[in-house]
Amino acid sequence: MKVFLIGFMGSGKTSTGKELAKLLGYRFVDMDDLIVQRAGMSIPEIFSRFGEERFREIETEVLRDLVNEDDLVVSCGGGVVVKERNHFLLKQGGKVVFLMASPEVIYERVKDDTNRPLLNVPDPMDRIRDLLNQRMEKYLKVSDLRIDTDRRSPSE
Ligand code: S3P
Repeated sequence: MKVFLIGFMGSGKTSTGKELAKLLGYRFVDMDDLIVQRAGMSIPEIFSRFGEERFREIETEVLRDLVNEDDLVVSCGGGVVVKERNHFLLKQGGKVVFLMASPEVIYERVKDDTNRPLLNVPDPMDRIRDLLNQRMEKYLKVSDLRIDTDRRSPSE
């Protein structure tokens, strides 16, 4: 079995994924870490040198490799649902859990982080709302289960 955690940046995919993997006795992997390994550079560097499209290609390559593995909890990048080609890989690969959070809570969780190029803009709150609007339908469509994380700790 595999569990894919999807949701916006700052929705708690990594911290929740680690706890869940422990509970299930599964291995935990973070797609962003695998992308960094594969590219040999940080995420901001991939974006600035090669652009978002190239980042999305590497993201799909990493996801494709994971589909063949078992007993795994995967924390997906927040934008994994952007490309339709990833939807099939997620659905076919395991259970997809959408961790939801409000724009205000997301902002609080990510505001001091410089490792997320999409939020490195003059008005991050506006960008969060905009991207959430663009993505919500996709997160809902792809997921088997939805959990509101605004007032929940990872273990809850
Ligand atoms: C992205 C989310 C990030 C990372 C990249 C792009 C996005 O992952 O993949 O910066 O498009 O939402 P996290 O959700 O783990 O921060």
